[in-house]
Amino acid sequence: MILDFLHTILPLFLSISILTSKSLALDINSTSCNQSCGGKLVQFPFGFSDGCEIKLNCSSSSAIQIGGFDVHNVTSDHILVEIPAKCDRPLAELHQLYGWNFAPTWRNGLLLENCSESMKDCVVPRRLVMSTIGLQDCEKVNGNEERIACYSVGSNDSAEFLDYRAVEAMGRCRYLLSSILVENATESSSISLDFQKVELGWWLNGSCDAGSNCDPNAECTRFLYDGISRHRCKCKHGYIGDGFLDGGVGCQKGQSSFDSVFFF
Ligand SMILES: *[C@@H]1O[C@H](CO)[C@@H](O)[C@H](O)[C@H]1NC(C)=O
Ligand SMILES: *[C@@H]1O[C@H](CO)[C@@H](O)[C@H](O)[C@H]1NC(C)=O
Ligand SMILES: *[C@@H]1O[C@H](CO)[C@@H](O)[C@H](O)[C@H]1NC(C)=O
Ligand SMILES: *[C@@H]1O[C@H](CO)[C@@H](O)[C@H](O)[C@H]1NC(C)=O
Ligand SMILES: *[C@@H]1O[C@H](CO)[C@@H](O)[C@H](O)[C@H]1NC(C)=O
Ligand SMILES: *[C@@H]1O[C@H](CO)[C@@H](O)[C@H](O)[C@H]1NC(C)=O
Ligand SMILES: *[C@@H]1O[C@H](CO)[C@@H](O)[C@H](O)[C@H]1NC(C)=O
Ligand SMILES: *[C@@H]1O[C@H](CO)[C@@H](O)[C@H](O)[C@H]1NC(C)=O
Repeated sequence: MILDFLHTILPLFLSISILTSKSLALDINSTSCNQSCGGKLVQFPFGFSDGCEIKLNCSSSSAIQIGGFDVHNVTSDHILVEIPAKCDRPLAELHQLYGWNFAPTWRNGLLLENCSESMKDCVVPRRLVMSTIGLQDCEKVNGNEERIACYSVGSNDSAEFLDYRAVEAMGRCRYLLSSILVENATESSSISLDFQKVELGWWLNGSCDAGSNCDPNAECTRFLYDGISRHRCKCKHGYIGDGFLDGGVGCQKGQSSFDSVFFF
């Protein structure tokens, strides 16, 4: 009973306390960033108006979107975007997932079609892809077989993000069918495949030292994008919040069963 109570009430209480301190932060900087889309709230640095550090779109039906794709969830590490399988989607639509502050990570395997050169990079069984996505081969109608190609980073590539120009150049494919996200299960050697999802990494400008605005109880992750230092703050284990000092709520002591940035 008491345990159940704690499990249901505590997270609720904690999210309310975050919202309360967030509204304090918003009072100081009230007009700058709208973090509400319908019933969903996102944490700093995300929001839906021009004053937000990382601006996402809020559709007329209150879906959080990036470049017309629905956002599945936003966490202190990543943005997960839905990319339903679709024949004849121009590859250029992928470019909409490259923003000022976010880009697809190397953990994505892109499913491409209508390639003029063959690619031997796909590690996912084709039958698994077809049965999971539940889609007929887009190009079967043309009498062609084995048309889906898969783009993933080379084993020598240590970059955190997929290079759009490399994707364009490799195989010269015309269509983006969908994508598969390879997730690393923590503390085990197993991985899981998430179909029809693209993972984006996000960042703020600047590196982790001096200029960083991470809370003292946050970890700062530094990486390069376009050869420039970027960073991301995340509360340490045992703390909840957005991890940022300026504009954010920082980190407060507490456990959270979820670290999603969506609160309903
Ligand atoms: C308000 O927001 C702007 C833009 O994000 C920022 O430059 C400014 O420092 C903020 N002001 C305060 C008082 O937090
Ligand atoms: C924020 O956006 C929502 C809908 O997107 C709107 O209902 C709300 O009024 C906006 N809030 C502010 C402060 O602009
Ligand atoms: C939001 O929508 C506008 C207009 O369609 C577009 O120009 C902009 O790139 C979109 N932003 C994001 C983050 O998807
Ligand atoms: C690409 O698609 C066009 C029609 O959309 C088709 O005529 C052509 O044969 C396809 N090319 C390849 C390499 O699959
Ligand atoms: C990968 O790196 C190894 C050793 O650095 C090199 O021998 C190999 O040619 C590289 N492969 C590719 C595809 O670049
Ligand atoms: C997967 O996790 C292990 C241990 O947690 C780590 O050493 C490895 O670098 C991770 N791999 C990827 C692809 O993130
Ligand atoms: C972040 O850096 C880019 C250059 O990579 C620059 O164009 C952009 O204006 C910077 N954004 C902010 C908020 O400083
Ligand atoms: C985000 O969505 C993925 C895929 O459904 C899920 O594995 C993950 O736990 C979600 N993260 C949060 C924080 O809700």
